[in-house]
Amino acid sequence: MVKVIAKYSPRLDVLPPYLFARIDALKAEKEVQGLNVIDLGVGDPDQPTPPHIVNSLLSAAHKGVNHRYPASEGMLSYREAVSEWYAKKHIALDPTSEVLALIGSKEGLAHLPLAFIGRGDKVLVPDPAYPVYKIAAILADGKPISMPLTADSGFLPNIDKAAADAKLLFINYPNNPTAAVANDAFFRNVVDFASDNDVIVCHDGAYLELTYDGYRAPSFLSVRGAMDVGIEVNSLSKTYNMTGWRMGFAVGNADVIAGLRKVKSNLDSGAFQAVQEAGITAMAGPQDSVDTLRRLYAERRDVLVDGLNDIGWSVDKPKATFYVWAPIPDGSPSLEFSLKLLDAGVVATPGIGFGDYGEGYIRFALTVPVGMIEEAVRRLAEVV
Ligand SMILES: Cc1ncc(COP(=O)(O)O)c(C=O)c1O
Repeated sequence: MVKVIAKYSPRLDVLPPYLFARIDALKAEKEVQGLNVIDLGVGDPDQPTPPHIVNSLLSAAHKGVNHRYPASEGMLSYREAVSEWYAKKHIALDPTSEVLALIGSKEGLAHLPLAFIGRGDKVLVPDPAYPVYKIAAILADGKPISMPLTADSGFLPNIDKAAADAKLLFINYPNNPTAAVANDAFFRNVVDFASDNDVIVCHDGAYLELTYDGYRAPSFLSVRGAMDVGIEVNSLSKTYNMTGWRMGFAVGNADVIAGLRKVKSNLDSGAFQAVQEAGITAMAGPQDSVDTLRRLYAERRDVLVDGLNDIGWSVDKPKATFYVWAPIPDGSPSLEFSLKLLDAGVVATPGIGFGDYGEGYIRFALTVPVGMIEEAVRRLAEVV
């Protein structure tokens, strides 16, 4: 038999290495050695999907009509539910032209550049950031250009210094990994930049609903002019503990939505309709589970941030997301520091994994119960 040698495309060759693989492997090693590791690394909710949403899936799964190919753009009833949900929270949208179902928001973010980016076109991406923006730009043969997010500017990029000849701009507030939030003034600045320079904006709003202490995060689309320049991508994953279900949506400018819809209609055949029906239940049904979730994460945040500050760290309390973005107290490089934490039995994500400007920070995810967070703080006290 002749062995086929898999030769990867130059596109795959230039993808950055998966830094987290090393941490995952070391974590597994520690567990084999019998150490019970507390994992504050992954941004994956530990709470179950609310039962009324699960029940909705169960009954929808029995319907034969749902067993056939869905439409890539999503059922009209799903898109209507999205538009009603958005109207209640932010702005009115036309479900036929301004809403598109996604198989999780990652899918939409990853496919968007294929609709608008040609070889060498510039794509503005925040640094640090959720890695998908940069990788999607590369996979579309575009050129990612970093916009640094630093503490002195509240982790908002300096839009006035952004490359005006870019084609696409990604932003994300409430932000992963920094947990920073944006105000209307910042969004207005983005809209002005985009309309002056013909840049499409994609705002990633995956954490819009996870806000605390009475704070409510604004939708990018609620700023005047935003509907003319871009879209917002959102997800049921974090709001309803549905990461495994893969259900999200893109909303906003009809031409941008149409471009993404065209790419998707050639690449995927949509989300299982029973999952879309459950998604409708999530958005149209009782929302008390979201309030409960907000209270849960706020309590965990308080325990972690107060605990870290008590042991000599200097950490701000985030108003949103389920992340805590902590400056590394001993100034060591973030990867090295995360390995030290792992030796003490705590997994956290080194800032460098989100980009060069993430160096100097470590990200904790609030996805374990309070008792484990308290134990993690006790372990961290031994490290520094
Ligand atoms: C900022 C951000 N955007 C998008 C996603 C993707 O979410 P999903 O594909 O589950 O909708 C994540 C997941 O962690 C994220 O942190």
